[in-house]
Amino acid sequence: MSNPYAEWLRLNETRLFNLGTKAGWIDFVNAGPRPDFPTLTPNQMADLDADTLDDYNQARNIWNANPATVKTPQLKHAHELIDQVMASAHRDGNSVRGSIALDALPGLGKTTIASSYARQFDLRQRRRYGNTTTDGHPRLPVAFIPLSAGMTLKQLNQKVLRFYGHPAASRASKAELGTLAMDCIHSAETRLIVFDDLHFINFNHRNGIEVSNHLKWFANESAATFIHVGVGLAQRQYFEEGAGGDPALSQTARRTTSCSVVPFTRSTQSAERAWNRLLTSFEAHLKLARKTEGALTALSEYLHDRTQGHIASLTNLLDRACAIAISSGDEAITYEILKKVTIDNAAETTSK
Ligand SMILES: Nc1ncnc2c1ncn2[C@@H]1O[C@H](COP(=O)(O)OP(=O)(O)OP(=O)(O)O)[C@@H](O)[C@H]1O
Ligand SMILES: [Mg+2]
Repeated sequence: MSNPYAEWLRLNETRLFNLGTKAGWIDFVNAGPRPDFPTLTPNQMADLDADTLDDYNQARNIWNANPATVKTPQLKHAHELIDQVMASAHRDGNSVRGSIALDALPGLGKTTIASSYARQFDLRQRRRYGNTTTDGHPRLPVAFIPLSAGMTLKQLNQKVLRFYGHPAASRASKAELGTLAMDCIHSAETRLIVFDDLHFINFNHRNGIEVSNHLKWFANESAATFIHVGVGLAQRQYFEEGAGGDPALSQTARRTTSCSVVPFTRSTQSAERAWNRLLTSFEAHLKLARKTEGALTALSEYLHDRTQGHIASLTNLLDRACAIAISSGDEAITYEILKKVTIDNAAETTSK
């Protein structure tokens, strides 16, 4: 008996994009959706030999854990705001481009919002202007720079150079690094730069103030618009440029448009509808033999209690529930299965 799932698995295994390098970013931008395959009924599954069934289940685990990005109200709102900020980037001359700060609690889809916007932008720029710049360099419309704990200015510039694959990333002196990073941004005609997890910078520390000034220099000198993504940026005094900063005097506060990403609530009818629409989108994606329409929305309140409306906790919960539904043979997401799942600590300790 032929086993189409082995081939599907070979071509569609779990993808690990390293967004912090140009190769990883380009792979992410070009990755299409995985090819769909029919959901089998329990009888059809019973007809499969053991290996084929095993591969079918593994293919479903990968499929179920990777729903398409849902156009949630939070995502739409943030994308519209970024569009507005990008509109001022059309100004000629060397006026400073604005930046946007996606500032929100963990697990609300900030990285997804930034990367999905940047992906569309990248595709559009390449379609319009081609893969090569006017000077004959490879065009990189977007740079995606994920930061890590305790970033110093030197490390930040190294991260930028690593994204561009510049060989001097680990060799150049501290003074040279910034100029090299700017050269990369210029020669690749980068127009959108995402700094993810900016909360790793302590804006109250000397290192952080140095980084904050450097980010302003990037904005002054380049033709790019910046998306700064982080948790609690306002509390960390990112907008005031560190302790003792007066917001009125802060250039960051004046140049940055703040966009918060809120958890889903069920406090009004329209909020509840948005939450239910999200559940419906995720439910439609699942490949389970005994799935019944509306099963997740019937558990809307319970799912909200478990996750506090954080999309990351919800996707975790559903991934794990699906895996149990498949391995147990239940083939549906039920209250009993959801109760068996342990998810992230924040959601578990907060849920009622
Ligand atoms: N619009 C969306 N549609 C589908 N899934 C989403 C969406 N937004 C987020 N997710 C899922 O939720 C999870 C967390 O999202 P993401 O990493 O974007 O959150 P985050 O706010 O950046 O989290 P952190 O604070 O940990 O960096 C991811 O697994 C992602 O697939
Ligand atoms: Mg993130």
